[in-house]
Amino acid sequence: MSATAPATHAAVTGWGKCLPPAALTNHDLATILDTSDEWIVSRTGIRERRISHVSLGELAYVASARALACAGLNGASVELIVFGSCSYDDQVPNMASGIQARIGAQAAAAYDINTACTSFLYGLSTATALIRTGVVRNALVIGAELISPFMDWGDRDVAVLFGDGAAAVVLEASARAEGLLAEKLGCYGDAREILRVHGMGGRYANRGILHGITRWQFEGQEIFKRAVQGMAGASEEALSRIGAQPQDVDLVVPHQANLRIIEAVARRAHLPMERVFLNVQRYGNMSAATVPVALCEALEEGRVRPGALLLMPGFGGGLSFCAHAVRWGERTTPRGASEAQLPPNERTALELIRECLARKTRPAPAGADPFA
Ligand code: ACO
Repeated sequence: MSATAPATHAAVTGWGKCLPPAALTNHDLATILDTSDEWIVSRTGIRERRISHVSLGELAYVASARALACAGLNGASVELIVFGSCSYDDQVPNMASGIQARIGAQAAAAYDINTACTSFLYGLSTATALIRTGVVRNALVIGAELISPFMDWGDRDVAVLFGDGAAAVVLEASARAEGLLAEKLGCYGDAREILRVHGMGGRYANRGILHGITRWQFEGQEIFKRAVQGMAGASEEALSRIGAQPQDVDLVVPHQANLRIIEAVARRAHLPMERVFLNVQRYGNMSAATVPVALCEALEEGRVRPGALLLMPGFGGGLSFCAHAVRWGERTTPRGASEAQLPPNERTALELIRECLARKTRPAPAGADPFA
């Protein structure tokens, strides 16, 4: 294919994840909240989640370096960076430009995308479209989330559900019919108020609310219903767009918010649970990071065969929903490994949470630059 001719497809050629090491178990949570391991496991399937000792940008950089090494691609060759998240370190400058600088992708376009938990999948759509229309020849698509500083650690309804993490994929122009084949994107804007994080955004700026102090407006049962309806319907639509049936799907890699939601989607969309990849028990809901981390682990565990048809249903605040049908290529192992690592961490997850809480209530020391 010539460099200027539009590519027919955008193959996934690299993948990498970065999970912070500190694990917060349900038993840990039961020491600070009126909850129990039994309640959390039976209602959600979650056993533990990770709490980060570093910034969102750091998590995303390590995941990106690993994805690039996996693809055998040099940072300088990257033409597009799409950063999917709703928990930015900074809004200006955006997160994607920070990754551009760290990986040395001087020629790359770089933008952030926020559809909450579906941000990675929406990013996969836009990056694939830009490759297929010949605007760029490759892309780094990131799904990363640092929820812990924004969590209301006093609210057991939400504090048990979420965790921190990051992952990324590399897409490259390909003449073969692989990568994202079809997707269905949607949004229940009428129900956007049932999942709102008060405190994240400019509307709170004049109310004396310190950064990180939040109140989660969260109607769990209504979110549950919309999530199942949205993901099951989008899955059927994405498959029908490529003339496929549920039995043609080799592996479902869904958004991992809650085991019961995943089981209900699988039932409704006629997808057997044996063909559904699960890691919600280890990480909880990492929002934009859940699908790419699950994809990386499915590959590591040998669950993705060459030529496999993958289905990736997602659901997030907004309320956004989607499903992506992805044809895997021939290679299921990395081309190379990166030496990028997180800095070491000596603190437990509970200690990290206490630090988050202290930052929310402690003013900056007298004379200190609060923006430093
Ligand atoms: N520990 C112990 N008890 C709890 C906890 C907890 N962590 N949280 C709530 N409860 C209590 C409630 O107070 C309630 O008590 P009450 O009956 O005395 O009032 C009881 O447990 C039942 O609460 P429900 O909300 O009815 O519990 P439900 O079975 O609906 O499960 C859950 C709650 C897990 C949130 C469920 O509604 C759900 O999964 N909703 C989907 C939302 C979700 O997973 N979102 C993910 C994030 S959003 C996203 O990804 C887009």
